[in-house]
Amino acid sequence: MKKVLSVVGARPNFMKVAPLHRTFVAQHPEIEHQICHTGQHYDPRMSDAFFNDLDMPAPAYFLGVGSGSHAEQTARVMVEFEKVCLEAKPDCVIVVGDVNSTIACTLTAAKLHIPTIHVEAGLRSFDRTMPEEINRIATDAICDYCFVTEQSGMDNLAHDGYPAERTFFVGNTMIDSLMYALPKAEQSGVVQECGLTPKSYVLMTLHRPSNVDDPQQLAMLLDVFEELSSQRDVVFPIHPRTRKNMEQSGLLARTEANPRIHLIEPQGYVRFLALMKNADFVMTDSGGIQEETTVLGVPCLTLRTTTERPVTVSLGTNILIQPNGKEIREAMNALLTQPRKKGTVPPLWDGKAAERICEIITTTVLA
Ligand code: UD1
Repeated sequence: MKKVLSVVGARPNFMKVAPLHRTFVAQHPEIEHQICHTGQHYDPRMSDAFFNDLDMPAPAYFLGVGSGSHAEQTARVMVEFEKVCLEAKPDCVIVVGDVNSTIACTLTAAKLHIPTIHVEAGLRSFDRTMPEEINRIATDAICDYCFVTEQSGMDNLAHDGYPAERTFFVGNTMIDSLMYALPKAEQSGVVQECGLTPKSYVLMTLHRPSNVDDPQQLAMLLDVFEELSSQRDVVFPIHPRTRKNMEQSGLLARTEANPRIHLIEPQGYVRFLALMKNADFVMTDSGGIQEETTVLGVPCLTLRTTTERPVTVSLGTNILIQPNGKEIREAMNALLTQPRKKGTVPPLWDGKAAERICEIITTTVLA
């Protein structure tokens, strides 16, 4: 029996691996699929809640690395993951996305000569000040197979000289999870719990270092949200990094005091999906939310200078907004007063990406 070991580390990884696990179990009994959780995210609301919502089994390996500087976190994952690889002896390793755990495990596995597969490969923001961009470039450069979600990823890998015969355009496992969980999200009472009705509120998330680590930038964004709250309720599930920075710069109390800004804890997957689906529009600096809102057909303003997911802008409902007060206010007012962009769902975002990936792994990678 061949063994496949998938790595998860941080919140956006769980929904990318869950469909792979389900598909291996249901359709490939000849494969033993195990999950290794690095523990980069350790807060139950950032981790356990996702395992439950996505019906994932407890990980076979938990590395418990926690937070730290980039070098500390990456190094700790490498040291611990090397032990796992030596013990588990997987026939291949799957890494997903662009977090520190992704590059750490790719470096480790590649040097142990274990075939390494990157799911969600080829994405580029072309902004090397983003830690994720370094993780993407480095992971793609040394992994053995690239599985790609959108055409820009194929183009970027070709441009970098990555071998075409090891590049596969398969669609988006994050969307597989969305389709899997949508019926549960329909049953969720989270919107009512917030005292709101569908389409009456704006959903907000912020956690990128470029938006939340600089107190001036963070204060500017909170001012804009305050203005928005005079027209719409704002639901703001708050990432631990953002909460910490708001506390430290004295911005938390004012936001907490505003009754139309609903500051809530980080939500589990199903509840967050329900909040997205029922939002009038979404404002975010996340990567994955750009994709999820595109599939849900909900307008999304992405408060960043770049996006590594351009198909969400060219085909989807996403609009990239330079994160300064003037441009955000203009975009917000346009959404509140003018007809909205109609989007379409990008090619192969059909809920079947994991099936394609598992098929290629069994017939090509492990053949
Ligand atoms: C990480 C990813 C980012 C992803 C995001 C989703 C990297 C470089 N960044 O960013 O790409 O979009 O996850 O959330 O891998 N913290 C907690 N509890 C937790 C996790 C973190 O309190 O469970 C706090 C800690 O104070 C920590 C800080 O959040 O220092 C940042 O965590 P970290 O894992 O370094 O990066 P994220 O900002 O979460």
